[in-house]
This record gives sequence, structure tokens and C-alpha cells, in this order.
Amino acid sequence: MYVCVCNAVRDRDLRQAAESGCRSFKELQALTRVSTCCGRCEPMAREVFDQALERQQRTLEHCGLAVQPA
Ligand code: FES
Repeated sequence: MYVCVCNAVRDRDLRQAAESGCRSFKELQALTRVSTCCGRCEPMAREVFDQALERQQRTLEHCGLAVQPA
């Protein structure tokens, strides 16, 4: 599904960015160009990205690979 119509960014592009190590919305914008035009997609883009980060964190914790805060 397209999240950002202006820049043709799909939900799976945002998930792949999270899986590839992207950790902030600013990084996500630089990588995918999501929400860099009209901005209407930002709430949905943040939701998809946050869910992808949470899913990845749970997976890392499940595998005992999560980074613990100092
Ligand atoms: S829909 Fe994403 S910037 Fe316009």
C-alpha cells in the first residue's frame, strides 16, 4: 500500500528501512523521501515505522540480542 503518494513510498519500503537499521524519522525521510512534500502522510508513515521498530525490538529481545540501556 502506498503511504506517501507524493513520493511513491510504500509501507513495505518503511518496514525495510527499519530492518536495514534506520532508527529515526529524519533518517527515514532521507532514505525514502517519505513525508518530504505535502506532509499529509506523516502520521501514517510514523505509525508504520514505529510498528516496524517495535516488531524488530521484540524480535531482538526474543533472540537475546537487544541492546540494553547503559
Ligand atoms: S503524501 Fe507524502 S509528502 Fe505528500
